[in-house]
This record gives sequence, C-alpha cells and structure tokens, in this order.
Amino acid sequence: MAYCSSITFDDLALQPPVALAPLAGITDLPFRQLVASFGAGWVVSEMVASQEMVQAKPGVRERAELGFDQQGTAVQIAGREAHWMAEAARMIEANGAVMIDINMGCPAKKVTNGYSGSALLRDPDHALRLIEAVVNAVKVPVTLKTRLGWDHDCLNAADVARRAQDAGIRLVTIHGRTRCQFYKGSADWAAIREIKDAVNIPVIANGDITGPQAAREALALSGADGVMIGRGAQGRPWVLAQVAAALHGAKSPVVPQGAALIDMVAGHYTAMLSFYGSDMGRRVARKHLGWYMDDAGTPASLRKAILTEADPDAVLRDLPDALAMRVAA
Ligand SMILES: Cc1cc2nc3c(=O)[nH]c(=O)nc-3n(C[C@H](O)[C@H](O)[C@H](O)COP(=O)(O)O)c2cc1C
Repeated sequence: MAYCSSITFDDLALQPPVALAPLAGITDLPFRQLVASFGAGWVVSEMVASQEMVQAKPGVRERAELGFDQQGTAVQIAGREAHWMAEAARMIEANGAVMIDINMGCPAKKVTNGYSGSALLRDPDHALRLIEAVVNAVKVPVTLKTRLGWDHDCLNAADVARRAQDAGIRLVTIHGRTRCQFYKGSADWAAIREIKDAVNIPVIANGDITGPQAAREALALSGADGVMIGRGAQGRPWVLAQVAAALHGAKSPVVPQGAALIDMVAGHYTAMLSFYGSDMGRRVARKHLGWYMDDAGTPASLRKAILTEADPDAVLRDLPDALAMRVAA
C-alpha cells in the first residue's frame, strides 16, 4: 500500500506524516526534542489552558513558551471561552509558533467540567465559535484534535470536523475513542474513516499506535493521511522514526544500544533537571526513567533504588547497571 509521504498546507510540510501526541506532564520540551532528534513529522506541546496562559498563572506560560519557536512544533491550547482562546493564540503566535492545535479531546473531569476538552463535542455550536475565534486571531495554521464523539450515542466527530474545516481548520487528528471510553478498550481505527470521508483536509489517526505494524493497520482501516503516537513513544523516543522508516521511506533510526542508550537516557535526565530545576526535574524524570527501565528489563530492586534516589549523581552512576539488560539484548 502506498502511504501519503508528506502533508502540506500553508507554508508547512509535515514530513513524514507521523506526529508525537500531546501528553500532559510527559511531552515537555526535553522529550519533544529527544523524539524530534530521531525524526518526527511534527510534535505537539502539552495542552496549555488559554485563560491561565493569558493571565500568566505561574508555570503555564513557561511551559508553553519554551519551545514555541521550535521548528515542527504545534502548541496546543484548551479552554471554553472564545476570548481567552483567541488571546492565547495571539500570544503563542507572537512567540514564534508555526502551528496552533485546539484541544477538543481531553476527557479529564477537571477539563470537561469546565466544558472544554472533549466536552465541547456536546456543544458543537459553541465549539465552532471557539474554533472561529482562534482561526481569525492568527495567521499560522490552526489544527484540531478530538475524539469520535462524547459517547456511542453521540458520534459526531465527522460533523464537527466538517464544520471545523469550513471555519478554516487545516488538519484534524482523531483519537479513535469516545470521551466516555477515556482510555479503556481499544481505539477504533475503522471508525475514523467516517471523519476522513467527511472532509478534504488531512486527517490523522491516533490511539494505541505503538509501532509500524499498528500504524499500517490504523492507516489501512481509517484511510487517514498520517498517524499520531503518544504512549507508544514513552521510553521509546525512536518509535516515530521507526514508523516513518517502515511506511514512508525515511531513514531508519539507529536505536541506541549499550553505551549509546546510557548516553541518551543520561542526556534526557540532565535535560529535564536543567529545564525544570533539580526538585521538579527529578520528579518529572521518574516517569521517563521508569519507562526506560521497563523496556530494559531492569531488576525490580535496582529500579526502585533509582526511582527513590534523591541525588542526581547517584542516578547517573547507576544507569549503566540499570540499562545493562537492554545493553546485552
Ligand atoms: C497522560 C496523558 C496526557 C494526555 N494529555 C493530552 C493533552 O494535553 N492534550 C491532548 O489533546 N491529548 C492528551 N492526551 C491524549 C493523547 O494525546 C492521545 O490522544 C491518547 O493518549 C491516545 O493516543 P496513544 O494511544 O498513542 O497514547 C493525553 C493522554 C495521556 C495518557
């Protein structure tokens, strides 16, 4: 099967059409840069709450600003008021962002109780007002990320995507679950085809894509133009590049082994400490170190020791032993 090898609109070429999904608390600047260093068509920042961003709640603006101007990065915004969404989009564009993504897929109660994220699927007219406000506020392309619908009685993503396209949205990503499914069950890639058939803009399939085989199946079932990978990249930042190589003829990434793997993990760890500062950096790093060690089959006692270690130098000293299993593989 021939796959679409590049998505182009406005001045952008998204090539290969394999994207890193936004994962709050995970796809921060250090991780996005690491994934991009192996190869990715584009990466999406963690969601930024629009009102907090404009009103500069500590931490929110920093989180979004760092990396705004990185090539191939879409900055994602969430919210429920057109005014704040438009203001945030303007600020983000002024900071050099090349693409802005609207979050209409987050199922978290904290977000949906504020009627943003996937709750917007229950009120498409309001969602459209937000979309129009953002599209009209900026010159950079605006994209949309959503789910199949709120629940199985409200599978309205095709209708929302068509209206979003008419309002000027340039690309839509569909997570093949409803909001009420949260992350349960499996993503329904075939159901994404209804959205693909409803619009002329590129459609990206998302949900449970963990490698080349899953990406192939997702594209075949959905007819989508590309894939977006989130949890599948945790501990495996090279996986997008593997998909791009297998499906789109990109150069195969060299998956780090041995000393190269230890160097990569140590580099990611120190990048997190310098990005967040030592205290916060150590907390954020635990998740990533855990995934690297899962992949390497690190013995439980050493894993625990590293994840509870307060001294970064000791963590760095223990990494070669912790990743030794993967080294031998
Ligand atoms: C921990 C976590 C955080 C997430 N944060 C966001 C977010 O900030 N914005 C968003 O649109 N989706 C978010 N998602 C949804 C993912 O982008 C993606 O749609 C979902 O995980 C399915 O893709 P995957 O199976 O490849 O991970 C999050 C998912 C997880 C598990």
